[in-house]
Amino acid sequence: MSDELLRLEGVGKRFGQAEVLAGIDLGVARGEVVAVIGPSGSGKSTLLRCINHLSPPTSGHVWFDGKPIGERHDGTRWVARPEREVDAQRARIGMVFQRFHLFPTSPRSRT
Ligand SMILES: Nc1ncnc2c1ncn2[C@@H]1O[C@H](COP(=O)(O)OP(=O)(O)OP(=O)(O)O)[C@@H](O)[C@H]1O
Ligand SMILES: [Mg+2]
Repeated sequence: MSDELLRLEGVGKRFGQAEVLAGIDLGVARGEVVAVIGPSGSGKSTLLRCINHLSPPTSGHVWFDGKPIGERHDGTRWVARPEREVDAQRARIGMVFQRFHLFPTSPRSRT
């Protein structure tokens, strides 16, 4: 069992002309806690969706627990995994979806 739970290599994401993520390399160890901080629109949610392949990266690759997510390498090239396999991989990765007003800010709710 490797200490590294998550690995990103050269992860990029484009929406048409917009390059939202570029060349993200990241390793996260088992039990490590990482916070991704940045201004609104900087690509934090996009990065999370790329990690679980809800929104597949347009470049680079993601490994979870040693296995590439959403695809596999057949020795010569990368091939997409069947959606059922990707779902099984995603089931091991939690993500809380962001909603507008996720945290209440009214004075009453702060008491
Ligand atoms: N499906 C999409 N199609 C086109 N552009 C998108 C799409 N999803 C995200 N973007 C763009 O990608 C950029 C990053 O958005 P993202 O939601 O990842 O930012 P964020 O860092 O999570 O922002 P926030 O702090 O507001 O949650 C934004 O410019 C956004 O408009
Ligand atoms: Mg977000």
